[in-house]
Amino acid sequence: MDKIKIIGTGLSGMIGSKITELLGEKYSFEDLSYDTGVDIRDRNVIFERVQKSGAPIVFHMAAKADVDGCEKDKQEDMKYLQDPNEVTRFDLKSVEWRNWMDKNTAFAINVVGTKNIVEACRKYNKTLIYISTDFVFDGTKSTAYIESDKPNPTSWYSRTKYLGEQIVQQFLTSYSILRPAYPYGTTSTIKKDFVRNIQSRLANRKKVSCITDNLFTPTFVPDIAGALDVLIQKKAQGIYHLVGSTALSSYEAVVAIAKHFGYDSTLLEKTTNTEYYSGRAPRPRYLAISNEKITALGVSMKTFEEGLKLIRE
Ligand SMILES: NC(=O)c1ccc[n+]([C@@H]2O[C@H](COP(=O)([O-])OP(=O)(O)OC[C@H]3O[C@@H](n4cnc5c(N)ncnc54)[C@H](OP(=O)(O)O)[C@@H]3O)[C@@H](O)[C@H]2O)c1
Repeated sequence: MDKIKIIGTGLSGMIGSKITELLGEKYSFEDLSYDTGVDIRDRNVIFERVQKSGAPIVFHMAAKADVDGCEKDKQEDMKYLQDPNEVTRFDLKSVEWRNWMDKNTAFAINVVGTKNIVEACRKYNKTLIYISTDFVFDGTKSTAYIESDKPNPTSWYSRTKYLGEQIVQQFLTSYSILRPAYPYGTTSTIKKDFVRNIQSRLANRKKVSCITDNLFTPTFVPDIAGALDVLIQKKAQGIYHLVGSTALSSYEAVVAIAKHFGYDSTLLEKTTNTEYYSGRAPRPRYLAISNEKITALGVSMKTFEEGLKLIRE
């Protein structure tokens, strides 16, 4: 059987590289990256490559994903928004759509880049799969977030990702928006996921600060690949939370990681969300995210315990 063609951005990244490795048997991927001469801020190149591609589906994963780095771009980026305080009702006309090639900011990559991809998908009738983030929520809900909950991003990174979601929804009829959270189970040599970061700190006998008063919902990246496969086969549309099946505190996660790899838990130091992120971009505090919508499609999303068991040193 012929492989289904997918053209994608961010395929060289931490999540993208694992997904293409796992889905490579079934899908053929065309990489739109710096290495293949594509910068997503460059509208002309994006249009040219999307037009030429025979792929019916576009994955858009490229982003400036460094949350604190993005926060530093906020002042500069806000100059180009006519109404910088308007978060939920985004009007494309309220942006100065200048040439953004000379800017390497969160807005240039996450918003202008996404707008370029979206417009190319619209023009050439492609289905878009946009990777967003659980950080679109503010983390103040006392129960798990579901897809129909209203986002309220708190950092500049999450705001630009949410602007991307709004552009997708305003311009396209054939799309899905996927929100993973704290991905792990990756093997990129360029960027380590949080489990590998903590494991390497513990291996080097470095202290690990662990937040006790937060909740997050880590996602085993091979499950994202499995979910993508099902979403594509079922031609699913709309928003899906692609997250694991356990919400836990950072402290509980680090205890589980230390135990799994057999490291000394005396290296763990308890802290609070406020203390840990002091002077940095705000992070949502309670991010329990429901995966009921994706699991209802028959996709299995692992608990943190199940995912960790599959990770070797
Ligand atoms: N990591 C997380 O904790 C997390 C959590 C939730 C959601 N997400 C979302 O998941 C997606 C992937 O995240 P990740 O952590 O895998 O990202 P990553 O490892 O930081 O990789 C970013 C990717 O974007 C590409 N890229 C950046 N700027 C570009 C540009 N101007 N033109 C073309 N390509 C560009 C990079 O290409 P090069 O390799 O060539 O530089 C790389 O492939 C992102 O959309 C992110 O918002 C991430």
